Amino acid sequence: MNILVTGGAGFIGSHTVVELIAYGHTPIIVDNLSNSHENVIINIEKIVNQKILFYKQDCRDKQKMDTLFSNHQPDGVIHFAAYKSVSESVDKPLLYWENNSNSLLTLLEMTEKYETPFFVFSSSATVYGDPEELPLKETAPRKPSTNAYGATKQTGEDMLQTLCLTPHSKTKGISLRYFNPIGAHPSGLLGELPLGVPQNLVPFITQTAIGLREKLTVFGTTYPTPDGTCLRDYIHVLDLAQAHIYALTHLTKINSPTYDVYNIGTGKPSSVMEMIQTFEKISGVSLPYVLGPKRQGDVASCYADVSKAKKDLLWQSHFSLQQALIDAWKWQQSLK
Ligand code: UD1
Repeated sequence: MNILVTGGAGFIGSHTVVELIAYGHTPIIVDNLSNSHENVIINIEKIVNQKILFYKQDCRDKQKMDTLFSNHQPDGVIHFAAYKSVSESVDKPLLYWENNSNSLLTLLEMTEKYETPFFVFSSSATVYGDPEELPLKETAPRKPSTNAYGATKQTGEDMLQTLCLTPHSKTKGISLRYFNPIGAHPSGLLGELPLGVPQNLVPFITQTAIGLREKLTVFGTTYPTPDGTCLRDYIHVLDLAQAHIYALTHLTKINSPTYDVYNIGTGKPSSVMEMIQTFEKISGVSLPYVLGPKRQGDVASCYADVSKAKKDLLWQSHFSLQQALIDAWKWQQSLK
């Protein structure tokens, strides 16, 4: 299938492009490079040993998107392109609404106009807010979001759902709710490129280990968890990338209008302290860290029930936490 991958030069997008090719599909990347680099395209081409179709353009540019849909008639869209910092979205909510919602709206308009059969939307476990029951099932309620980033993910899911479930709809859709993507491509050619000081745990760990940051602060040690630090569901980015191909394949087997949501995680919780200890073990580096106060907005525990994805999509994660950290560390060292 010809698959339009918006944000295909980003962290998850670039790994998904590699997987699409491994499964025999033809990706077409659209990325405005606002939070990535043209080198990523070159590195994808090195890994897959072929040229990649890439358009440096913005998903909000309706005219350009129309031309692209008209020229390529994609069979499916995987929509990654979005702003993704929770803290920035608290500072600049309208920036998030403008970019994330208008990008998706334009793509859905094109999807409707060109009767694109399949659409996969990048959503997040953040749509659940603070969970009442763990592990999180897809049936858990979506709590009102405390930040614009999370709110755009919730409305993004709703926008796709309403398009897919109109009686005349030609588009089948899935929202994938990612838990915590980490790791990198084992080649050391692709990985996460945080701008400035990383907000997420694993990039902060690897940057500290290599000496770019003085020390890691553990945000909170009195949570109601076995060691007092937060529990999360960390998933290797290649496992996450593969889930998109399984989601597309699943949609090809359904003959009526459909929309559904799936948790994409490992189902295994790890605490911040466990992450530090595992990283020290795989890298041989003693990580400087201090115990600090809670970060505002963090929930104590968040991990997935992954049985729905396993049953319907026939997908499950394979990489271990150790492997994900080995690959993240290799990527950090390659950036040197
Ligand atoms: C964060 C976002 C989430 C987003 C996800 C994308 C917040 C509140 N949530 O999730 O909406 O979908 O990233 O990857 O920003 N930690 C430290 N020290 C650090 C950094 C993190 O102790 O320097 C801890 C955090 O308190 C948390 C865990 O590590 O318990 C994971 O943090 P992070 O990687 O930022 O992910 P989330 O907060 O789960």
